[in-house]
Amino acid sequence: MKIAFCCTGTRPEPWLEGLSAALPQAQIQVWESGAPQADCAVVWAPPQQFIDEQPGLRALFNIGAGVDALLRLALPPGLAVVRLEDAGMSVQMAEYVCHALVRHFREFDAYEAAARQGQWSFRKPRLRSDFPVGIMGLGVLGERVARAVAQFDFPVNGWSRSPRTLPGVRTFSGAEGLRDFLAASRVLVNLLPLTPETDNILNRETLGALQPGGYVINVARGAHLVEADLLALLDEGHLAGATLDVFRTEPLPADHPFWQHPAITVTPHTSARTLRDESIAQIAEKIARLHRGEAVGGVVDVARGY
Ligand code: NAP
Ligand code: GLV
Repeated sequence: MKIAFCCTGTRPEPWLEGLSAALPQAQIQVWESGAPQADCAVVWAPPQQFIDEQPGLRALFNIGAGVDALLRLALPPGLAVVRLEDAGMSVQMAEYVCHALVRHFREFDAYEAAARQGQWSFRKPRLRSDFPVGIMGLGVLGERVARAVAQFDFPVNGWSRSPRTLPGVRTFSGAEGLRDFLAASRVLVNLLPLTPETDNILNRETLGALQPGGYVINVARGAHLVEADLLALLDEGHLAGATLDVFRTEPLPADHPFWQHPAITVTPHTSARTLRDESIAQIAEKIARLHRGEAVGGVVDVARGY
């Protein structure tokens, strides 16, 4: 079995070492133009040239959960696209979202500012029932985040494409459920995949439908958010703030207004990192299953976009 490795921005050596140890019978090589044909590939944002020069590929194993960059390429029909399923990401996402939520709810930013001034001053406790949290996307990551947020006794709403039932979560689904979901939520957490249906989904209309004093936590993709609409709703006071991990342009340009905005917290696309060892173990297991002719999980529905 021949495996090509084509991951933009990733140091290949530790991946090759880990994959070779997990799949000793396989030949694994970093792809370069003119390389021999491989049976499958481990990829992150590969160039179109890679796909065009490797018509013998049966499957692409993406070293992330989101496949939007991959699906922007022209892929031959029948080529399976397989994404990471959790692989240690969901607990990171739960930590990140709970941290951002609790920091906002408990006003730790204000306490930090007061402490820097040497001020011992209390703020009035707020009611968590006044901060219902809406989670867009109830997949591998969204479900884990919903469970973690519910553990802190916040009211939790969840929105997905198909109807879902989750203990402790009020669920909504489809375009017909979106308005009610937003109206029931004050803090909005985005964990949707980026697809033609969800592109620009965080906009003036949807964010404006959140309860007054809304707070946005975007941990999915930058292209979900219409940046000017977020800034306008912050200026108008409808939104109280945002924690943003993903951006239309990454790295976020030095002169971008988000950096200096007092109500926006920026992190560098780090809410749930690909953990190499867990990811290698998951991908190697799936490659072995595919080789034996068995079914694998995490196969993307290319037409649906996730
Ligand atoms: P997933 O398991 O595929 O879950 C996707 C969820 O979104 C599902 O609940 C799905 O509904 C819902 N959904 C999709 N399209 C929808 C639509 N049009 N309307 C309503 N709901 C829709 O994905 P995941 O593993 O949880 O990952 C989610 C995203 O997180 C990734 O695609 C990626 O962009 C992002 N991510 C970011 C980071 C980071 O570090 N910032 C790290 C990892 C992932 P159904 O349940 O009905 O299918
Ligand atoms: C990271 O953003 C991922 O999709 O895994």
